[in-house]
Amino acid sequence: MSQFELTRTLPEDATGAALRADVLHGLTRTPKILPPKWFYDARGSELFEEITRLDEYYPTRAEREILIARAPMIAAATRASTLVELGSGSSDKTRHLLDALPGLHSYVPVDVSGSALTGAAEALLGERPDLRIHALIADFTAGLVLPDTPGPRLVVFLGGTVGNLLPDERSAFLTSVRALLAPGDALLLGTDLVKDEAVLVRAYDDEAGVTAEFNKNVLSVINRELGADFDPADFGHVALWNAEQEWIEMRLRARRALTAKIPELDLVVHFAAGEEVRTEVSAKFRQDGVRSELAAAGMELTHWWTDEANRFALSLATAV
Ligand code: SAH
Ligand code: AVI
Repeated sequence: MSQFELTRTLPEDATGAALRADVLHGLTRTPKILPPKWFYDARGSELFEEITRLDEYYPTRAEREILIARAPMIAAATRASTLVELGSGSSDKTRHLLDALPGLHSYVPVDVSGSALTGAAEALLGERPDLRIHALIADFTAGLVLPDTPGPRLVVFLGGTVGNLLPDERSAFLTSVRALLAPGDALLLGTDLVKDEAVLVRAYDDEAGVTAEFNKNVLSVINRELGADFDPADFGHVALWNAEQEWIEMRLRARRALTAKIPELDLVVHFAAGEEVRTEVSAKFRQDGVRSELAAAGMELTHWWTDEANRFALSLATAV
């Protein structure tokens, strides 16, 4: 019998309160910013999946290549009974790990997107009748409490989503992940790597405009959830390489001077023509940086695997 349980650890009103706080803070400061986690309503999750199939967007294919090659080694090194996945999305690549772990008892996908979690569980349920799936709708940056499942635990964070956290958020996050690890547990971390600027920018500014639509989706989320009147057509999609920080930035640029009302916040926001909101950073890494960030959070890098073309890396780490 398959078993599936969906737990919302963030009450609906807490999600709404967090969105209100982020929008109020982010759109009343200069320069304007919005956190990327608000891209992922049902439409945003679909658009992300579409991005992963684009020719220009190499990270998903590169990470899948590593998973296929290394899943047996990851299984042998970790012997995990519970696989916890942060920001699991469609869980599509995760199948390579689920299938390689012979003694796996429970899969715990964690995501802010309820639609992504139910879609992933529906797809997995038929295939793995032995597996218990405890899906958690939760913010992985906000004090995660995991269900009581057998160890050893392997916590996986794929896709390079760790790069969507700002440096101070990232160090707090890695410290909180370290706190989830008991002796014998491990972390598997996917990181996109620093590479040619043109390749990077193309991955975030595709010909078909799917990434642009994904970027603008945050405005539709604010319209729906906070009653705002943004017209996404008033904004252009910007993707640029910040060489100093070694991250891609996505921004939305106002095509003209405009004013948006956000009734739920009693707020009117003004944009000058050309003014930008930064909606995402996507940091790109080097091995030394990953090793030292893990060490600073109390973890030791034990394995580093890349794809043939050295575009993406998977790191295995244990608690020190
Ligand atoms: N791991 C998948 C999906 C990556 S997309 C892959 O590699 O393809 C990023 C995922 O993280 C989305 O499903 C999004 O909903 C989720 N996410 C983003 N910020 C989050 C947060 N703060 N807490 C929990 N989930 C988050
Ligand atoms: C989820 N995350 C790792 C993606 C990335 O590449 O930073 C999100 C994304 N943004 C634009 N395209 C994809």
